[in-house]
Amino acid sequence: MNVLVTAGPTREPIDPVRFLTNRSSGKMGYALAHAFIHAGHHVLLVSGPTDLDVPDYVDFIPVTTAAEMNEVVAQHIGRMDIAVFVAAVADYTPVLTEAQKIKKDGDRMTIELVKTPDILGSARNTFGFGGTLVGFAAETENLEENARKKLVGKSCDLVIGNDVSSPAHGFDSDRNEVVLVYPDRTEFISSAPKSEIAHDLVDVILEIHRTKESS
Ligand code: CTP
Repeated sequence: MNVLVTAGPTREPIDPVRFLTNRSSGKMGYALAHAFIHAGHHVLLVSGPTDLDVPDYVDFIPVTTAAEMNEVVAQHIGRMDIAVFVAAVADYTPVLTEAQKIKKDGDRMTIELVKTPDILGSARNTFGFGGTLVGFAAETENLEENARKKLVGKSCDLVIGNDVSSPAHGFDSDRNEVVLVYPDRTEFISSAPKSEIAHDLVDVILEIHRTKESS
């Protein structure tokens, strides 16, 4: 199976020394990429900047901005069977990136932002992806409800939600606890190391793919 995984944060430059970003260690996405490789699949990992080692045997394309991630995904998703969007993509980017470092001239400053491309949201309609599509929902409240909105809004087969306000399962944690939101039901995976959760998720995603193929 050919599997695309997006991971890590994106960075949206304000000037040569500053950027906007989202909190994300990249650990869950890298663990998933590793677990798909372990299960014998081909993985293309498209990742924003992280401190992690690239798992052995993955094809790796590093990116910085949401626009770059969007371009790489648009280029490669057509040959994928499964696409899993774990990246914490910045939702907005500065309208202008200053060429020189901005000086602190006033007590206040305003930066105008514009929406980035919704990469997962483009998979079906813009990129024409017909394979198994999985999104993530990092939420601080109403986890299941918000994850279900993403499932429907972005035409996913599965959205994996996690509560990032929980200290035990937050951004830099090695553990996670997730809710699996399917079109017709919801399931839970209780607290476990991210590597273990990743192996469970690979089984779940492959099962969805098999069911889709045979229907
Ligand atoms: N995502 C993406 N491109 C974006 C934003 C998000 O591909 N520009 C993907 C993420 O990788 C994740 C899913 O969409 O799989 C959910 O991301 P999130 O930002 O939480 O979703 P939004 O629809 O932007 O909702 P919210 O209003 O909660 O930000």
